[in-house]
Amino acid sequence: MNLIREIMCGIFGIVFGTRNTDLGKILLEAGRRLVYRGYDSVGVGVVDGKSTDLRKDAGTIEQVSLDHQFTEIGGERGIIQLRWATFGRPSRRNAQPHYDCDEDMIGAHNGNIVNCTQLKNLYKSEGHKVRGWNDGEMVVHTVEKYYDNNGGDLKAAIMRGDQDLHGDYAFVITTVHSNEIFAVKRGSSLYIGVGEDFICCSSDLPSILPLTKMILPLIDGECVRFDSDKYEIFSIVDGKEISRKPKESELDPETANKGGFDHFMLKEINDQPKRAEMLLQTLEESDFVDNFIERIAEARRTFMVACGSSLNAAITGSYFFNKFSGLPVIPVIAGQFIDNYGYSITDEDCVIFISQSGETKDVINGLNFLRKTEKGTLLGILNVLGSTLMLNTDAYLPLVCDLEISVPATKTFMNQVILLYYVALKLGKLTGRLTAKRSRELTRELHTLPHLLARTIEHVEPKVKKLAKKLHGTQDCYCLGYGVCHGIALEGALKIKEITYVHCEGMYSSEFKHGPLSIVTKDYPIIFITTPEDTYMIVSHMNEVSCREGRVIVISEDSRSLRVNSHHYIATPRAGPNLSPLINIVPVQLLAYFWATANGIDPDYPRNLSKTLTVD
Ligand code: F6R
Repeated sequence: MNLIREIMCGIFGIVFGTRNTDLGKILLEAGRRLVYRGYDSVGVGVVDGKSTDLRKDAGTIEQVSLDHQFTEIGGERGIIQLRWATFGRPSRRNAQPHYDCDEDMIGAHNGNIVNCTQLKNLYKSEGHKVRGWNDGEMVVHTVEKYYDNNGGDLKAAIMRGDQDLHGDYAFVITTVHSNEIFAVKRGSSLYIGVGEDFICCSSDLPSILPLTKMILPLIDGECVRFDSDKYEIFSIVDGKEISRKPKESELDPETANKGGFDHFMLKEINDQPKRAEMLLQTLEESDFVDNFIERIAEARRTFMVACGSSLNAAITGSYFFNKFSGLPVIPVIAGQFIDNYGYSITDEDCVIFISQSGETKDVINGLNFLRKTEKGTLLGILNVLGSTLMLNTDAYLPLVCDLEISVPATKTFMNQVILLYYVALKLGKLTGRLTAKRSRELTRELHTLPHLLARTIEHVEPKVKKLAKKLHGTQDCYCLGYGVCHGIALEGALKIKEITYVHCEGMYSSEFKHGPLSIVTKDYPIIFITTPEDTYMIVSHMNEVSCREGRVIVISEDSRSLRVNSHHYIATPRAGPNLSPLINIVPVQLLAYFWATANGIDPDYPRNLSKTLTVD
């Protein structure tokens, strides 16, 4: 059987009151804003009067829309879907949306229907016209089956059909027989946008915001039916109506544009000083910070649960908690959380879930587990407001980064680290490890960070560009850090491998001699990320490499002993032992960026990856 593991898809649906000749153009624009999630096929399905039109194929959105003339399409309502293959290889047949048997119903989903194969076999045996391998098609046949059996009640058919679908998903569906779209949320993200003369739904806010800022998030287990001017939310389980009003989103749709930079990644790296400043201002003015900190102070144990870059931020943050507050706050890989710690969590424990998107499945699994067992205080640190994480925690703090479009996390990583640093400082005052005066001094110092970040970007960019050229042809390298720079080195290695496709392993520098050292041959590159505080330790780790003819690259505040012991040196502006680890990530973000673009790779959309991973 042809199974390719799905990473992510995006869906968008919109209903107008009357025929809109620009419907295809509007769908195409919305689809373009979903591209960053990752995809390999594209399709639009529309209802135009009593007829339907479905155009789709594997390929880029630009190519498919050109080949199938999306911009020529008009109609009252329509769906665009960007698919990343899971069930069924990328092809026209498996691309979404899908028709039912008689082509008067169109639907698309994102996420996974894990019983896809069983459903496919069942529907084939029941005489359905099953055209491909894709699980989204099974969603449409499932609804069709109950719709045909109940005489055309779409709401009842969706509620009944949903019981047959297993997995985590969201889907949208419409027929020629009514002027509505139905959208169901079951584990994958889904938002509703309420405009002047339309209502729309999407997996993601960036595709809605340029159309309307009035946003209505849905909660798992909810279905919304909408036409152009009214909507009804109801429980998919018992059909009971749920009352909720849209709220005006504060996110800036302009952020979705590149603002003169070649890539979103470069724009977002350059956005870091401003976002850091906004975060610090928000934290200073927020009434929620004290409550958040008190919950950690009162806890018996605190864990930080996250994946990828968010996990690297948690690893860095655990250092600050130890240093400033004297409390162990334990970082845990989200996918391991339930098995390694889940059953031991009690009401005295606190768990901080950290996620840019607030939708990452590994993180949400841990959150749902604790919600079910009703154990522990659940805190969130997140960027996307209205996300599943935000809606399901006892308290949360926002990262204030606005939208992060580029797949590699940059500004959200930075603000996660800053937020944890800030919380650790305030906690230190509460635990008595820091005097009120020292806590104030350190907070004042932290407020100099936005300026330092701006200087760092300006200062290191030309040197990093040169280094990227020198590293051309490298297939394999390490990125090592000691102490507080361990998490930064892990993040640096993640950035490099994620967008250059060069293997780069991140590691604690003192661990390198316990095995990996054997990989070093002449000119083998190793990047050391350090603060002046750890010079003594890291110089001996550097020399273990250089005396075996390896190539030592150092990223640090200027230091004579580091410089004389390295082959390439990227000096960051003087920031002192507390803040220099935070600015050290900037040169590696830029190095990864210039290295990737020199190799002809688009860093915003690295192969095989997507921005939000809502599958297990
Ligand atoms: C790396 C990256 C990923 C994410 C990870 C978690 O640049 O972006 O590793 O950090 O998938 O995503 P969130 O933070 O949305 O939970």
